[in-house]
Amino acid sequence: MRQHLILVGLPGAGKSTVGRLVARQLRCDFTDVDTVVEERMGRSVSQIFQELGEASFRVQERDLMREILRKAAGVIAPGGGWAAVPGNRDGAKTGSVLAYLSVTPEIAAARLAADHSRPLLTGKDLLQELRHLLNEREASYRTAEIVVDAERGSPEIVAEAVVAALRCYADSVE
Ligand code: S3P
Repeated sequence: MRQHLILVGLPGAGKSTVGRLVARQLRCDFTDVDTVVEERMGRSVSQIFQELGEASFRVQERDLMREILRKAAGVIAPGGGWAAVPGNRDGAKTGSVLAYLSVTPEIAAARLAADHSRPLLTGKDLLQELRHLLNEREASYRTAEIVVDAERGSPEIVAEAVVAALRCYADSVE
């Protein structure tokens, strides 16, 4: 693999689960950015938002992505907000391909109904919150070179679709 593959999409799109499977197929490393930020900061993402603020989380996320992008090519799953922060996607353009795992807010809400680990999703009206995030971010997500429908089929099927789309994309630019 010559370029990094960065998976973007809403919380609940399956970036981490699918990313791990894609990396296994491509025989390369997988990095879950939230997990590394949590390890480095010694706190959960929710605690970072609460104690240090979202802006501080975004700086950690941006800097860590820059660091990972300098390493050997692999599969990377940043949090759902990374691609929408001005400058992040442009800064990663050289040396990486973006794949957007597209899901509707309805599907994401169903998947996240029992998960309370995301500070931007209070759960008061999960569907509305996800609709709002998608509204704000869809244009950034859609700048991805690859778009995969991530709501039908198992994570294995979505991972296969990502690998197939990546091969088509690589053939088309060679
Ligand atoms: C966020 C998504 C989360 C995490 C943080 C912020 C967002 O990651 O980075 O809670 O802004 O959408 P997932 O997309 O993996 O849930």
